Amino acid sequence: MTGSAHGKILLLGEHSVVYGHKAISLPISALNTTCTLKESDENTFDSALYTGHLNALPEALHPFKRLIEALQNHYQSGAFIHTLISTMPIGAGFGSSAAAATAIVRAYDATLGLNLSKETLFDWVQSFETMVHELPSGIDALTVIHDQGFVFSKSHKTPLNLTLGAYLVIADTKTRTPTKTSVAHVARHKTTPQFKTALSALGGIAIKGETAIAQKDLESLGSLMNQSMTWLREMALSTPSIEKLIATANAHGSIGTKLTGGGLGGCIIALCETRKDAQNIERALKDLHGAPTWIAKI
Ligand code: PMV
Repeated sequence: MTGSAHGKILLLGEHSVVYGHKAISLPISALNTTCTLKESDENTFDSALYTGHLNALPEALHPFKRLIEALQNHYQSGAFIHTLISTMPIGAGFGSSAAAATAIVRAYDATLGLNLSKETLFDWVQSFETMVHELPSGIDALTVIHDQGFVFSKSHKTPLNLTLGAYLVIADTKTRTPTKTSVAHVARHKTTPQFKTALSALGGIAIKGETAIAQKDLESLGSLMNQSMTWLREMALSTPSIEKLIATANAHGSIGTKLTGGGLGGCIIALCETRKDAQNIERALKDLHGAPTWIAKI
């Protein structure tokens, strides 16, 4: 039996969400991870990163071993061949780890007929995320298991139905820094005046973003995305490869452009009004930088 999960991006509020502020997340259905289980005498794990016995999983993938062993102990199941297939770039801010964990738990759910609630699924995925990242806010886990976006804070999670009729171009810098590292970087500096101001400004921007979305005000939303990028730069979360993609998107008609997710690599997002605008930006990002790109309707 198979379980699957889609990806996510953060429109606004990355990093500040870790400190209790609001963030806005969106599901990205074009990117998907599936896990298929086949009964077997021994546990094996077959993925783009590793193929072999579950017991010999490399250190970096140990959270998968711990998740699978916990599922098998908790639900008293036998061993399986676990096959993971993903169209999601890893470590690019699409929530690939949360999506992989969700796909695995859903595959157990389907195979063992568990009928798991969304809350139980969330708990499994979030406990996995806690092994992978430091201080995960839970926004990745929540957004990959639901089909809509969220206005999210640690205390409130409000589903968001986006009907802006606009487009986001997502482009990959093809450079990576683990979210754990960028979150630890912010944690190290969070008491400095510069970071304190940036984190609360980012929280304020996410609140204004919620209003701009409710009013279908694309210009304001774009401007808030640009402002958010300014504060993320202030916290040294940008890189030359992020800046190159942002400059190109802006030069080709983006209404607002920012990094998405942990930063220090990963992806940028650019807001535009029409599919044609999105395709123009996409072409420039591909031609000038060879960036992998996706277009999402929002
Ligand atoms: O997983 P990413 O790279 O999309 O980033 C997660 C967002 C952070 O706010 C940086 C961390 C978190 O757990 O919310």
